Amino acid sequence: MVRVNHAGESAAVRIYEGQLRVLGESSLAPTLQHMLMQEQGHLAKFEAERVSRNIAPTAFQPLWHRASYALGVASALLGKEAALACTVAVEEAIDEHYAAQLVALKESPEKDLKALIHTCHQEELAHKEEAQDLGGEKYRTFKQMIKTGCRLAIYLSERG
Ligand SMILES: [Fe+2]
Ligand SMILES: [Fe+2]
Repeated sequence: MVRVNHAGESAAVRIYEGQLRVLGESSLAPTLQHMLMQEQGHLAKFEAERVSRNIAPTAFQPLWHRASYALGVASALLGKEAALACTVAVEEAIDEHYAAQLVALKESPEKDLKALIHTCHQEELAHKEEAQDLGGEKYRTFKQMIKTGCRLAIYLSERG
């Protein structure tokens, strides 16, 4: 769980960095900056968990690092609404993922880890809602593709 969450939060940071490279001067920039800051916080916490538990990053890390930045840039090049649709799609996939982890951890004594996942989950839901409110509900096919990509990345990162 720590490995896949570390991979996901690191990808989230890269998506926003990619979007900000294109939209850094736009009206969406403050929103993206705020989300980026929160993702950096999530990443720092999962990085600390990863190191303290001696868990290697996923073998896919170098690929995710590039692919997520490219997704950020590409979505932003399509426009603000596509960038927001990307956030909605990613956060929908992450919502499912964190919700499933919290169910799986229900009986676990790992209180701190559960609290961390819970906090991240709540902030991801806020990102999703904010992106929806700002116009991220369009681009259905694009969103479906991104969600499928996220689910595949999660599946792979859980296994190595
Ligand atoms: Fe996050
Ligand atoms: Fe997020």
